[in-house]
Amino acid sequence: MIRIVRVRDYEDMSRQVANIISAQIILKPNCVLGLATGSTPIGAYQQLVEWYKKGDVDFSQVSSYNLDEYRGLNGDDPQSYRYFMNENLFNHVNIDIENTHVPDGSDPDADATCAEYDAMVAAAGYPDLQLLGIGNNGHIGFNEPDDHFSYGTHCVDLTESTIEANSRLFDKIEDVPRQAYTMGTHTIMSARAIVVAANGEKKAQAVHDMVYGPITPSCPASILQLHSNVILVADEAALSLCK
Ligand code: PGA
Repeated sequence: MIRIVRVRDYEDMSRQVANIISAQIILKPNCVLGLATGSTPIGAYQQLVEWYKKGDVDFSQVSSYNLDEYRGLNGDDPQSYRYFMNENLFNHVNIDIENTHVPDGSDPDADATCAEYDAMVAAAGYPDLQLLGIGNNGHIGFNEPDDHFSYGTHCVDLTESTIEANSRLFDKIEDVPRQAYTMGTHTIMSARAIVVAANGEKKAQAVHDMVYGPITPSCPASILQLHSNVILVADEAALSLCK
C-alpha cells in the first residue's frame, strides 16, 4: 500500500522526510536505516543534522546501509556515494562511521562485492526504514527499467537516461561511471517500511506509474505497490499526473 503525503515544495518534503526518519530513530534507537543519495535527500539530511545539533535526534546506535555506489570509484572520490554520505550526513552527526555501509565501488570483483553486501544487509535484519528517491525513468536504487525485476545486490549497466541525469554532477558526461553496484528489488522490498521522496515535474510520470501503473519491471518503482508500508512524500509538481 502506498500512502501519499502531499507537500508544498522541496523544503516541506525535506522536513517531512526528516520527521519520518527521526521518528524511526526515536521509536527504535538502534534501528537499521536504508539510505539514499542524489539531490532529493540532501534537504532531509540537512534537517536531521540541524535537529541533531539541537539535541533532538541521536544517531549513536543507528546503523545504515546505502542503496548503491558507482563501480570503479573509491570512497574518497568526491563523486562517490560514500563521499556524498560522509559530507551530507555522517560527518555531522554522532553515527559511528563503522556502522555505516555503502557498497565498495573500488572492488572490481562485482560478484564478491555484491554477495558480501547482500549478506551484510540480511545479517542486519534488513532496514527498519528504507529511504528512496525515484529516477526520472522509474528506477529505485540503480535498478533500471528491464524485462525482469532484480533480486539481490548486483552490478548494473546504467541507462543513457540515468547517465545523462547524473551528468549534471560531473564536469563532463564521459566522466559518469557506466556501471554501479545496487541493492536489488528483493533487498529493497525486505525493508519493513519505505519512504519515497519525490519533487519536481521531471518525476511526475515515474511517480504516476509507481502508484497507478501496472506492476512491471519497465517501471521498477511499481513493485512498491506490493509492499505493505510505503509512504510517498511528494510535491504538487511530482504529483501533477496523479489526479
Ligand atoms: P535525484 O535522483 O534525487 O538526484 O533526482 C533520484 C534517483 O535517481 O533515485
